Amino acid sequence: MTVDLNSRYGLNPAHSEVVEACKIIELGKANEPCNALDMGCSNGRNALYLSQLGFNVTAVDNNPSAIHMLQQIISEENIDNIQAQVYDINNASLTKDFGFIACTVTLMFLDPSRVNAVIANMQERTLPGGYNLIVCAMSTAAHPCPMPFRFTFKEGQLAEAYQGWELVKYNEDLGTMHNGAQLQFATMLARKTE
Ligand SMILES: C[S@@+](CC[C@H](N)C(=O)[O-])C[C@H]1O[C@@H](n2cnc3c(N)ncnc32)[C@H](O)[C@@H]1O
Repeated sequence: MTVDLNSRYGLNPAHSEVVEACKIIELGKANEPCNALDMGCSNGRNALYLSQLGFNVTAVDNNPSAIHMLQQIISEENIDNIQAQVYDINNASLTKDFGFIACTVTLMFLDPSRVNAVIANMQERTLPGGYNLIVCAMSTAAHPCPMPFRFTFKEGQLAEAYQGWELVKYNEDLGTMHNGAQLQFATMLARKTE
């Protein structure tokens, strides 16, 4: 039986959209595990989940103490399929290719002037047939974002950025944050055409 590493280390379960996406994404050709990137991994709740499913995971965050904690878990558990690195996503300088890139509730903390470049870099570094998962806060006329996030999507903006990709899942549903704030979230699982 697989040990639940998230609860062993006091981490929340993986983001529900990561769990849902993994039900759709094949692990790659002939079921070989593909390379996955967790953008803004914090202390690794999604990275550990992906690792346990057999993905080869690169986990990046600009918070060195979060990466340090994840590295300690990796070392204690002798995990050989997660590479955790300090990286500023604003640089948009990914150089490796991935079959799956997950970026859950992270874009809203980036420099707004860099988000287009970050998305373009994610798209470029996704293998044909590979997937991008994005969950990000929105601010719309109907539901102005009540949180002071640096970046939020406008209506339809994320779908527009992924024109030419297959939108496997896309919605801009109203959600409630743990503090009770109501706002829309853009939720997208997109597949790059082969
Ligand atoms: C709300 S947490 C989300 C963590 C994780 N993706 C999840 O679903 O639980 C946002 C994360 O983005 C990271 N972050 C914010 N700005 C960043 C940047 N410029 N580069 C890399 N990581 C960043 C933060 O350190 C934090 O760990």
